Amino acid sequence: MNTLHTISDLRAQLREYRQKGQSIALVPTMGNLHAGHLALVEEARRQADIVVTSIFVNPMQFGPNEDLDSYPRTLEDDQRKLEEAGNDLAFVPSAREIYPEGMEHHTHVTVPYITELHCGASRPGHFTGVATVVTVLFNTVQPDLALFGEKDFQQLAVIRKLTRDLHLPIRVQGVPTYREPDGVAMSSRNQYLSEEERNKASRLYEMLCETAERIRAGRRDYSTLADEAVRVLDSEGFHPDYFSIINSDTLQPADTRDSKITILAAAWLGRTRLIDNISLRLDQ
Ligand code: PAJ
Repeated sequence: MNTLHTISDLRAQLREYRQKGQSIALVPTMGNLHAGHLALVEEARRQADIVVTSIFVNPMQFGPNEDLDSYPRTLEDDQRKLEEAGNDLAFVPSAREIYPEGMEHHTHVTVPYITELHCGASRPGHFTGVATVVTVLFNTVQPDLALFGEKDFQQLAVIRKLTRDLHLPIRVQGVPTYREPDGVAMSSRNQYLSEEERNKASRLYEMLCETAERIRAGRRDYSTLADEAVRVLDSEGFHPDYFSIINSDTLQPADTRDSKITILAAAWLGRTRLIDNISLRLDQ
C-alpha cells in the first residue's frame, strides 16, 4: 500500500488510475482505525477498483475545549490495518497541506440549518469544519464513490446535502454502524472511558432499542418518550446532551404520521461524549 502526504503526489497517482479506467472510492477518516472504519474500507473494496483512505485529524472540526490535542494518533498501526483490509492508497496530509494559509483564512463550507440541530447545537462550527474538509477531499480525490458511517447520522446527512447542493458527481454511501458485542458503537473515543464507564456505555444503545420497541408497540408521544429516556440515562450516571426522535430525511422532530424515524442521542459519560442512533420504519 502506498502512503502519500501531498495533494500533488496524490493527484499524479490518481491520474494514472483514471487513465486505466479504474473507479475510485474514498473513505475519509481521522485515523486510529477500528473495525467500524475497516467495514467502510471493505465495502469500498467491493464496489470500486481503487480504494483511497484519508487520515487527517481535522483541526477545523474541533471546538476550542475539545480533544484535538489528545485525539489518538496511531499512523503505523493504521497503515498496517489498511494494508490488511486491501486499501490501495493512504492519503495522510499535514494541516498545512490542507489549510496552507491557516484555518481562519481558508474558505469555509457551511451547510445551512441542519447543521444547527442536535450535535450542531452543542458543537457550534463542528459541521462547518467537517463540510469544509470533506469538500477539500472530494475536490482533490474526485472519487466516484465516498463512504461514511451511519454511526455519525447527522454528519452523513450534512455530507449528502453538500454533495447535492454543490452538484458534485459523487455517490455518497452510508454504511451500518459496527458495534461491540454488547452493542456499544465502535468509536476512537471509547478508549477515553474508564472500566466502570465502559461497562455502563451499552445503556445508551439499550435506551435507543427500548425506545424503538415502544414506538413499534404503538407509542407516538415522541417528546414524552424522549424525556423518559433522558431521565433514565440521567439516573444511571450519564449527562445526556440530547435524545431526539426525528424524521430520518428532514432531521426535524418526528411527526406521528412519519414512517422513517431515527432516534438520535448524545450523552456524556465522564469526560467522554458518546453518540449513537438507530433508524426504524413504521408501516402505515
Ligand atoms: P472518524 O470519526 O475517524 O470516522 C471516519 C468514518 O468512519 C466516518 O464516516 C464515521 O461515521 C465512520 N465510523 C466511525 N465509527 C464507526 C462505526 N462504529 N461503524 C461504522 N462507521 C463508523 O467522522 C470522521 O472521522 C470525520 O468527521 C471525517 C468525516 C473524516 C471528516 O474529518
